[in-house]
Amino acid sequence: MSAELIPVYIMGKKHYVPETATILNAFEYAGYQVIRGCGCRGGFCGACATFYRFKDDYKLHVGLACQKVVEPNMYLTQLPFFPANKSLYDMDALEATAQQIIELYPEMMKCMGCNTCAKVCPQELEPMEYVAAAMRGDIKAAAEKSFDCIMCGLCASRCPGELVQYNIGMLARRLYSRYIAPNAQHLASRVLEIKDGKFNDDLEELKSMPKEKLQKVYEERDIEE
Ligand code: FES
Repeated sequence: MSAELIPVYIMGKKHYVPETATILNAFEYAGYQVIRGCGCRGGFCGACATFYRFKDDYKLHVGLACQKVVEPNMYLTQLPFFPANKSLYDMDALEATAQQIIELYPEMMKCMGCNTCAKVCPQELEPMEYVAAAMRGDIKAAAEKSFDCIMCGLCASRCPGELVQYNIGMLARRLYSRYIAPNAQHLASRVLEIKDGKFNDDLEELKSMPKEKLQKVYEERDIEE
């Protein structure tokens, strides 16, 4: 049985789309080609941030277009890109301190503690909390609390303090992995093996394989526990 069609409004224009469609599918069903504003289609890349309202309802909703299924009378638009302040830095010249993060993102001190960022986060993170951890120099907590961020930009789009929480979170994760977390020995030895050419022959063999054989090898590969 085919899905019922329901009305939604895309950029103000009414379209009928299958009730089972995600917002992204609805855009495409209506004839839009989504190039910017769509990536993994699996809820991981954060490219498909979307705003919507319902007819006669003041409340503004947000979501990921590849995950959220349409509902009747949604007024939809996408946020294909959000202009965000992003500092440039040399990771080797930084210190893992609150002062360092504040120097690169001084606007973080304007956080009003309104928690609007948490209300719009499709990952159910609490950006205000990881920004606060960064401010007090708890880089580990800031890195861990922001770990599931998909950089969709919705937090920054609603922040009255004009912070770009996701770039602050990314800096905290970089500082944590560069200066605080212990080095992964197995990774260091694997990098050495690669540099020493241990896998060169295998790589050449894979590169010369016909597609079907390559696919079979891929499907039958050993997966590390
Ligand atoms: S397309 Fe990647 S999160 Fe939606």
